[in-house]
Amino acid sequence: MEFNFNINKLLPKKINKISQSLMLEEFRGDRREFAECQKQLTRVLDDMGEASAKAQGLSKTITSAQKLRDTDHLVYLLVDSEANQGKGSVVGLLKTGSKNLFMFDETGLHYQLQPRCVLDFYVHESRQRTGCGNLLYQHMLAEEKITPLKLAIDRPSEKLLAFLRKHYGLTRIIPQNNKFVVFHGFFDDEVQDT
Ligand code: ACO
Repeated sequence: MEFNFNINKLLPKKINKISQSLMLEEFRGDRREFAECQKQLTRVLDDMGEASAKAQGLSKTITSAQKLRDTDHLVYLLVDSEANQGKGSVVGLLKTGSKNLFMFDETGLHYQLQPRCVLDFYVHESRQRTGCGNLLYQHMLAEEKITPLKLAIDRPSEKLLAFLRKHYGLTRIIPQNNKFVVFHGFFDDEVQDT
């Protein structure tokens, strides 16, 4: 996705992590630059969030700048620095966060957990199935020091289920009463509610 400002200046890394402050850790600049940077980041998050919702056929967006504030959510943005005549473009978005969930394991035992969750995931239509999604996912796993099995997935699309099957061999879903999906092995080493 292209913007009329310089993405490479705003998001200098290949994968950039954004938290509730709507600012990159490495940002250096004065107050005016800070405000401009926040404005541009808001635009990127809102436009990518909207494109993601559209791609998933959702009527409401899951990711926006406003929604990122006051949460522990993290958004990873993948950049193609060579696109848009060297100004860069935003290719993908992956959002994670912790949620309080009441869950059941494969034997029906219940647990109250706060797992890390995949909340939103989108790669621009022009780049899907070229490895961009997995690049983002791998980066997130390393950043959050977590394995694919320990993540709960919020309402995964068929494409995301195929993605998890292909890259991480995750196939055996444990049915839940909520819209989250977890796989066999998720509950290993969890302590059950008493
Ligand atoms: N049909 C079926 N499987 C697909 C498709 C598709 N159209 N697109 C990707 N996949 C799966 C397949 O397993 C594919 O492997 P294959 O091409 O060998 O069949 C694999 O993903 C490709 O892996 P990557 O290239 O690393 O993934 P990609 O860059 O396409 O990103 C993503 C995956 C994010 C799911 C992307 O396809 C996308 O944005 N889809 C539309 C939005 C969406 O469904 N997002 C997930 C919503 S649920 C949630 O966010 C919690």
